[in-house]
Amino acid sequence: MGEFSSERARKFTESIIREMTRVCLRHNGVNLAQGFPDFPAPTAIKEAAVEAIRRDLNQYAITWGTPALRAAIARKFAWYNGVEVNPETEITVCCGATEAMIASLLAVVNPGEEVIIFEPFYENYGPDAIISGAHPRFVTLHEPDWSIDPYELSRAFNDKTRAIVINTPNNPTGKVFSREELEAIARLCVQWDVVAVTDEIYEHILYEGREHLSIASLPGMRERSITINSASKTYSLTGWRVGWAIAPEPIAGSIRKVHDFLTVGAAHPLQEAVAVALAMESSYYAGLAADYRERRDLLLDALEETGFRPYRPYGAYYIMADVGHLGFADDIACAMRLVEQGGVATVPGSAFYSEPARGRTKIRFCFPKRRETLEAAAERLRKFAGALK
Ligand SMILES: Cc1ncc(COP(=O)(O)O)c(C=O)c1O
Repeated sequence: MGEFSSERARKFTESIIREMTRVCLRHNGVNLAQGFPDFPAPTAIKEAAVEAIRRDLNQYAITWGTPALRAAIARKFAWYNGVEVNPETEITVCCGATEAMIASLLAVVNPGEEVIIFEPFYENYGPDAIISGAHPRFVTLHEPDWSIDPYELSRAFNDKTRAIVINTPNNPTGKVFSREELEAIARLCVQWDVVAVTDEIYEHILYEGREHLSIASLPGMRERSITINSASKTYSLTGWRVGWAIAPEPIAGSIRKVHDFLTVGAAHPLQEAVAVALAMESSYYAGLAADYRERRDLLLDALEETGFRPYRPYGAYYIMADVGHLGFADDIACAMRLVEQGGVATVPGSAFYSEPARGRTKIRFCFPKRRETLEAAAERLRKFAGALK
């Protein structure tokens, strides 16, 4: 029997995050592994989707997105991120931020060129770089505050660098990139003629006064930024698969071509409903952040109380925790024991590093869950910690 899997596909593994969800189901665990809410999506948005299906918007939409959704994205981008864009030419609606990211990299990167990725990174960026033929170059986010060493950052740029992937607020660290950091990245992008591909899907989930800044709003960056976003996190709609990429016309033209042949388009009626979501009052976003703050604090307290060593997140909905002192062989042993015997699913830290050894002492928890779910997890963590003693 021949080996029919391509060299490309053999270069990466299945997603560990999604695998932990399957393991969790087998052990009837509380799923703090994969970042999706267990509470309902806003009623008005669900009603808009039902209404769109009834209006029979059930055939292909325009490949790069329905006019209503692109107009809503442009309005919101101007309001929240301070950048005016043309919805006719600069927005591509995709099947989630996931497709927006891979379509963007395929659109701008040539095989052999380099893409800078901050590490630890959201698991998908590794395979994204491989699929697009890019050579990833990792820049460390240094613990405990996940800071960037300006010297290391500047050394990562060279003649082969085509793009830099930014994710702020950041999964898995909870870091919110500061203005100074983004300005430093912007200067290097301009100097080396590099595209910033910026995944901002947690832009409204911020704590303790942190503010979100889009690199596209900085001088010289509008023409070289691809801003990626989605309905998944802001509106608790991870299963709808509606996201988008915003880029200047020449780049958007390439993204649109790649997107068209990858997926043709995101679900038409759901696009109409996401247009309604994007028009919600600003109080919705304040409420979202406040609710997440409560969830974050509940889980942080539980982790501290039970002997994990969490890193405090200032954005997004994840907590990285150090487990090196707990006596497990590695992160996988810890995460497997925790789900099999403790009934709480997490993600082993190595999923977020290019060299698994760098994540060996960490696991990641997520908290987009109802209070009862988080309290149940806290109770299980207490029992687990008690049994470790
Ligand atoms: C940083 C980041 N980007 C993208 C995604 C996936 O987004 P979508 O559901 O829009 O494909 C996730 C999901 O966890 C994420 O954490």
